[in-house]
Amino acid sequence: MAIAPQALHEALLDAAAALRQERIDHLFSEAPDRADRYRCEVGGLSLDFSKHLLHDDAWQSLLELASARALPEAFSSLIAGEKVNTSERRPALHTLLRGTEADGHSEKSDAVQKTLSRMAALVEAVHSGQAAGATGKRFTDVVNLGIGGSDLGPRLICDALKTPEAPLRAHFVANIDPEDLDRVLRALDPESTLCVICSKSFTTEETLSNAARARDWLLAGGIQDDAVGQHLIAVTTQVQQAGQWHIPPAHCFPIWDWVGGRYSLWSAIGISIPLALGWPAFQQLLEGARLMDAHTAAMSPGENVPMIMALLELWQTHYLGADTHAVLPYAQKLARLPDFLQQLTMESNGKRVSSEGERLEHDTAPVLWGSAGTIGQHSYYQLLHQGTRSFTADIILPLRSGAGDHDARRALAAHALAQSRALMVGRCAEEADKLGRHRDVDEAVSRQFEVPGNRSHSLLLIDTLSPECLGALIAAYEHKTYFLAVLLGINAFDQWGVELGKEIAADMRGLLTTGETEAEIDPSTLVAAQAWRAANTD
Ligand code: F6P
Repeated sequence: MAIAPQALHEALLDAAAALRQERIDHLFSEAPDRADRYRCEVGGLSLDFSKHLLHDDAWQSLLELASARALPEAFSSLIAGEKVNTSERRPALHTLLRGTEADGHSEKSDAVQKTLSRMAALVEAVHSGQAAGATGKRFTDVVNLGIGGSDLGPRLICDALKTPEAPLRAHFVANIDPEDLDRVLRALDPESTLCVICSKSFTTEETLSNAARARDWLLAGGIQDDAVGQHLIAVTTQVQQAGQWHIPPAHCFPIWDWVGGRYSLWSAIGISIPLALGWPAFQQLLEGARLMDAHTAAMSPGENVPMIMALLELWQTHYLGADTHAVLPYAQKLARLPDFLQQLTMESNGKRVSSEGERLEHDTAPVLWGSAGTIGQHSYYQLLHQGTRSFTADIILPLRSGAGDHDARRALAAHALAQSRALMVGRCAEEADKLGRHRDVDEAVSRQFEVPGNRSHSLLLIDTLSPECLGALIAAYEHKTYFLAVLLGINAFDQWGVELGKEIAADMRGLLTTGETEAEIDPSTLVAAQAWRAANTD
């Protein structure tokens, strides 16, 4: 399928060809009001996209594309619970989890409300000490055992919002490498530790392995076999199987196959969030996301934050040649945002056939990467400023990110704004020459001081790092991901590519255990397996 109807596609190609000869700073001198016009605000977020290589004609064509590809209607289909996940014939109703109602889905809504009430009751019981460890100690720590969507969202939120006064300390273990769990447990007391086994499928090897090892640790720490369930919570679609772990029914929470793993932090998969931060914080998080749902449903494409984000990504990656998308949050509290967004965007939109199974002629999701500013500035920003690769970026700056040390926070903001400006203006040849003369180097050598600038990026200001703003931010990225999938013609809600590795890993285990496998193995893999076996003879 084509990325856009022919006439629009040609208009966008022409606009891109013309704009490649332009400079963003020049566009500003021609129209200083673009900082106001290329801006969209909602729920404490302010998306400034004036520093993209974009002019009104191109923007108009992109807005026409949003209508031509029926983005508003696609969103209505999503929140109405239509089967947008075509390969698994399921809806993707994460919006229902935060109270965005869908006609004809009252049973699902009731199940969500019932689960939220049960979660609130357990959280309250844990915080009051009514639900305590088997030896009577109050819980002080919660360990989330999950991976992918059963880890990254709750991990991001707990890391972003934790305070010294938080009711419980939260820890996250995802890797099957025993080191991950051991490092966490080493510092904990089994008598006051609650473990959440978080797995939508309840078949994920990493999670089940860590859960079994955590259970052994509890038993070894003096918790009796018949009481160990007091220290466990399970969240899964397979509640029956969780029962086999002797987890009390009050500790077992359902999720549903109509919620995708990477869109599930709003469900009981996120129970570590209220356990760690308190129930009000979780409610406010859901409220922020619901606000973003309402905004996305109500606003036309030009005033719609997630649609604008998706259109910009399409513009940058398909018309201006960006290969990757850097997410650069200037807030240590958002250090885990790039990890979360990697799964959200690359597992959702890293596809090569359309929703109808047609082989695509165009690229799909760009590689997403990034880390907290200013740390990246002393690492990979060199490539951003002077490298040859093309990228787009989101620079994210909370206006209020916490109390204390105002000078350091001002310095952090100064770096965010400086990078945004440097990416746009760069350092021209004349300035490079001046610098060269000052440093007494040849004119030719001065070329090394040039910085091209003209790097398109968005500047996303967040009012304050509250649970509401964070909920709105994450929901905005969720909807952006879906809109991009609609523009690309793909299904954002399956992940068949991940399964292949899981299947081959089963064969590899045989090879590493007995040296034999039923599958034909290439010599490189065979040599590595033999080396591993030789190193692990015990
Ligand atoms: O990585 C594949 C995947 O299926 C993700 O989509 C999912 O978030 C993760 O594994 C964990 O799955 P589960 O919650 O079923 O353990």
